[in-house]
Amino acid sequence: MASFFQWDPARYGLGIAEMDQEHETLIRLMNGLHELHAAKAGRAELAKALDALGDCTVRHFRDEEAYMDRIGYPNANRHRLLHASLLERFREHARRFHASGELGNDFFYFLSNWLKAHIRGVDARYAGKEFAAA
Ligand SMILES: [Fe+2]
Repeated sequence: MASFFQWDPARYGLGIAEMDQEHETLIRLMNGLHELHAAKAGRAELAKALDALGDCTVRHFRDEEAYMDRIGYPNANRHRLLHASLLERFREHARRFHASGELGNDFFYFLSNWLKAHIRGVDARYAGKEFAAA
């Protein structure tokens, strides 16, 4: 089965090794979660994969915010707010999963959109990178 989300350095690479590696790891975890979902894995297995993705996201946002501070990126505070709102939305989906035991398509739509729009549109700015239109 094709991966839910394909890491492609030409489309998502920022040219900053530390951030690119972390984005690639996030995508790997998202794909793993999607595969478990598609294979109708049990609730405990899904919960473990979902929590791992959540932990990795928290670490990544922290690292990315530290990176932006290190380079003196002027819009770091605005970017922080976007991270906080993404995390809040992720946590809302996680809460719903923990209550129902199910991950819906809207959750995967959220993940895929988050990556496409956030990496290409928002992260690209601190990397000083312009992506061609999708
Ligand atoms: Fe970001």
